[in-house]
Parts: sequence; structure tokens; C-alpha cells
Amino acid sequence: MRPQRFKTRITELFGIDHPIVAGGLMWLADAAYVAGVVNAGGMGYITAKTFPGPGEFEAELDKAKRLTGGKPFGVNLYLSVHTDHNKDLPAQLEIALDKGVRHFETAGLPPADFVERIKDAGGVVFHKVATVKHAVSAASKLPVDAIAVVGAECGGHPGLNLVGSIVQAPLAVQRVDKPILIGGGIGTGAQVAAVLAMGADAALIGTRFLVASEIWSHDAIKQRVIDAQETDTALVLASMRNTFRGIDNATTRAIAELERQGVTEFEAYRPYVMGLAQKQAYTEGDPEKGILSMGQACVFADRIEPVEAIMDRLIDDAVAAAGRMGAISVGGAAAAAE
Ligand SMILES: Cc1cc2nc3c(=O)[nH]c(=O)nc-3n(C[C@H](O)[C@H](O)[C@H](O)COP(=O)(O)O)c2cc1C
Repeated sequence: MRPQRFKTRITELFGIDHPIVAGGLMWLADAAYVAGVVNAGGMGYITAKTFPGPGEFEAELDKAKRLTGGKPFGVNLYLSVHTDHNKDLPAQLEIALDKGVRHFETAGLPPADFVERIKDAGGVVFHKVATVKHAVSAASKLPVDAIAVVGAECGGHPGLNLVGSIVQAPLAVQRVDKPILIGGGIGTGAQVAAVLAMGADAALIGTRFLVASEIWSHDAIKQRVIDAQETDTALVLASMRNTFRGIDNATTRAIAELERQGVTEFEAYRPYVMGLAQKQAYTEGDPEKGILSMGQACVFADRIEPVEAIMDRLIDDAVAAAGRMGAISVGGAAAAAE
């Protein structure tokens, strides 16, 4: 693990060495992956929805505790617009708190009750949104510790407005008076340095870590991510007001065709968006099956290697980028800041 090179409000608040946070990954962010991130100096979040049964979830938390040797790790609570999918979350939050988890990432519908419970229990929570407008609203209405804003480039749910990270990063910093995480398209250390230079406190990453050795998915899926260019993602389901960015595959093309035909009944889309198809794709190594979240940072994923190796490269590159700014600043960085 690299020594600490950047100190921000998020590294201080989360007690981590590097300003790099790995967001929840449905089916994939388990104990092995999250421990990989934590042990490499970042913060990671076990995705509660992946483990619906209380026993399975408890076992995963116990495993993460063992693998991290007692270092703090987090849990992701994603509140779906399909509210019947959220029924296990309150019990899962209680289990996590009982097990001593104190770091949480919330996303999706406004999580007011969850955030209050987490804060009462002495936890640290950030809420993830896709627009600066929602960031301002969440920061004023929820007692969260920090806000993450993901740009149009991100894997998963980039929101309806599709504004890129380079616009959202400085804007979020200007308008939100809380520590800020910026995600969406980040796959190099130069981008990590860039969001820090724009005033953010951490980079939030999903896609770049999909090729980590600790991610359990079949190597054929990882190879698809490695082979992908930045143009190989598809945006679908805007017509359902639930825009999704994932691997451009047979499934997203079938969905796009339904949208082109103007089909508006969710039932027509259901077979394509079922979560179990994703799990099967990850297990069997069939990248055509299911809607598989992937953002444009896929282009930076170049090989399968442990999370720590990816993290080390990100930090080395971020340090080099920060150094370049010093080197090209006329009269030195201090003079440039005057
Ligand atoms: C495969 C995959 C699954 C994801 N699943 C979830 C999830 O279950 N909950 C959540 O809050 N975010 C989820 N996300 C979003 C990430 O946590 C993160 O916000 C996003 O990946 C950051 O943008 P990037 O993909 O450009 O790095 C997922 C992203 C990917 C790539």
C-alpha cells in the first residue's frame, strides 16, 4: 500500500489514507472486494441488496471483519424506485449496526429514516446523487456527512440530465457546504488529482475496479471490460425515467428497440432488467446477458490485478499529475496560487 499522499476532509472523516472511495456494486461488492479496497487505503461498501437473507448478510459482514483485520469498512444501501425491492433494507441496517459497521453509502430515493438512524448510532454516511441540484437538496434536508455526485460518464444510474463530471465537480464544490465525492468516468490518477484540484475531497469509483482480482465475476466479463473502448457503453431506460449506463450488449440493444418503438409498459422491459440475469451473466461469463452496469472509465481498465495494484497506480499517477501542475506553474505553485 502506498503511504498517504493527500489529506482531505474525506480522508479525515473516513479515517482512510487515500481519497479514493469504491461505491456499491450490485452482486459484486462483497467482503473480498471491500476488504481489498480497505486494505489498499480506501473505503469500500458491501452492497446490502446482494445478500437478501439476514444470515448471508451477517456472514458477509463477519468475513469482511476478518479480512480487514478490524479496519472500518462500509455498507451500501440503495433505495430503488421499485419500493418493493427495499423491504429488507431496514433490517439489514440494524444487522450492520449490530455488527459494528459505522460507514454507509446511501443512493436512490431520499433515505431520511436511514440517515437519521445511522447518525443516532454514531455512523458516517454519504448520500450519492446524479445532479448538483439533488446534491444541494440532499445536503440541506438530510443530516448526511458528505455528498457524492456522479456524472453522466458513470456506470449504473447517471440520472436524467447527463451532465459530465468536469462540470459537476466544481459546481458541487461551489454549491454544497459539505465534503464532496465526485464519481463518473474516473479511472486514472490524473482524474483523481483533477477532482481534488477542483475542490472535491475524494474520487468515487466503480467501473475501474470491475477488473480487480477480488471481484468474483467470471474472467470473460472482466475481459469484456478490458476490451471495451469509452464508446462501448449504452444508455437505456431514459423513457422509464430510470436512465442506466451499461455494457453495450444484446440486452441493451433489445431495450433500446422497445424504447424506439415507444413501448411504455414496464412489464415489456422486465425480462431484460431482472437482477438475476445480471448474476447469471457474472457467474457464467456471458456479457450479452442482462443489463450490466459499466461506465466510460472501462477504457482505463487494462488488466486483471489486485485492487491494491490498481489503487497504487491511481495514487502514483495522481501524485505525478499534482507534480506536473507544480512544474508548469510559472514561478512555482505557490506563486500561481497568489
Ligand atoms: C457493476 C456496477 C454495479 C453498481 N451497483 C450499484 C449499487 O448496487 N448501488 C449503488 O449505489 N451504486 C452502484 N453502482 C454505482 C457505483 O457505486 C458508482 O457510483 C459508479 O460506478 C461511479 O462511476 P464509474 O462507474 O464511472 O466509476 C454500480 C456501478 C457498477 C459499475
